[in-house]
Amino acid sequence: MVVNGYSERWLRQGFPWVYPAEVISAPPRIRPGDDPLIRAESGAVLGRGLWDDGWIAVRRLREDDGPIDEALLAERVDAALALRQAVIDPETTAWRLLHGENDRLPGVRVDVYGHFLVLTLDSPSLYRLVGPLCALLQARLQPRGVFLAWRLDPRDDADRKLPQPEGLIAGHPPAGDVRVTERGVAALVRPGGGKDIGLYTDMRSNRAWLEPHWAGRRVLNLFAHTGFFSVVAALNGATEVVSVDLSEQVLERAEANLVANGLDPALHTFLAEDVRRALDRMRRTGELFDLVLLDPPGFSHGPDGPMAAAKDYPRLVAASLRVLAPDGWLVGALNVGAVSPRDFHNAVRDGARRAGRTLQLLHEGTQAPDHPAAIDFPEGRYLKFGVWRDVPLG
Ligand SMILES: C[S@@+](CC[C@H](N)C(=O)[O-])C[C@H]1O[C@@H](n2cnc3c(N)ncnc32)[C@H](O)[C@@H]1O
Repeated sequence: MVVNGYSERWLRQGFPWVYPAEVISAPPRIRPGDDPLIRAESGAVLGRGLWDDGWIAVRRLREDDGPIDEALLAERVDAALALRQAVIDPETTAWRLLHGENDRLPGVRVDVYGHFLVLTLDSPSLYRLVGPLCALLQARLQPRGVFLAWRLDPRDDADRKLPQPEGLIAGHPPAGDVRVTERGVAALVRPGGGKDIGLYTDMRSNRAWLEPHWAGRRVLNLFAHTGFFSVVAALNGATEVVSVDLSEQVLERAEANLVANGLDPALHTFLAEDVRRALDRMRRTGELFDLVLLDPPGFSHGPDGPMAAAKDYPRLVAASLRVLAPDGWLVGALNVGAVSPRDFHNAVRDGARRAGRTLQLLHEGTQAPDHPAAIDFPEGRYLKFGVWRDVPLG
């Protein structure tokens, strides 16, 4: 297949995708999962990738004309494993082994949860990698069970046919929740739980940064999910943690996570309601917190209507600041690749202005190093994280 000059420039810089509009010619009966050689108009070889019929035309897996075979996958897995051996501490048993484009295996993620693995694919066109990857992972890590998950892009046809449904593809399922640890702190996860496994391991380094700063503070954890931030806060001396999430089920899991760490959930508060409603009530009743953690999902539908984090962030920041005590800390996160770190900071600044508060930035973070970001792949640095202090004006 031949790509245009624009795609050639990007591929030469290390960007791993070719978009459909950049393809000048392709073999007549090419099908998703085929592995064409990618050439420039000059005939120069730009690599080999897997063809797709979605919003991405080709994911490039190698830069030369060699095959996409077991040896290539072994090279990628071993290079990824070497990084994790260097950055994952022995007290952490939940981590990302392969991070797609950023580990030179586009569209493929592998997460480790204790003795269980989850292999996530972005497209059915990558399915041919499942067999060899699964065999490799079994040889390297001897997991008890391997799950397959799909992470299809909304830009692709929603009715794409999957070659295999999500679920166990090797070994045995766990008997119940799986107990993993992050830097020695326990979390109960469900590796076969699709999108709700129950732990976001990319936040590990941000939780580590916050560790010395919870003591003596009353904490509000917004969009608390299974409460792992709440657990870490309580373990490190927070006087009370109030966790807010729409879903009662995740809050029950948050309570179980507290118990798994020897903490008493009765000392903390769990509110199953829309964050916007909770913040509004807390403002009216004059509640104040020393630290507010704001980590909304990209999109959600609550009883108070839809919420798009990219657009609603300033409003959420303003509402959070109205319940933040003078001299308190705002911890903000946003996991939306399309929002740049600069726009994220501007959103926090706009929110602070709305609330009439002055903030100073104390720390800026991103995803943990087992979720590396390839420097030529702008989508790689997806997680924005910052800690701001409210400056009391007197
Ligand atoms: C991406 S998770 C947050 C991650 C969490 N901070 C953590 O580190 O585990 C998003 C959570 O927000 C909750 N949620 C979504 N919309 C909400 C809303 N309007 N009000 C309250 N919770 C909401 C979901 O139920 C989900 O548990």
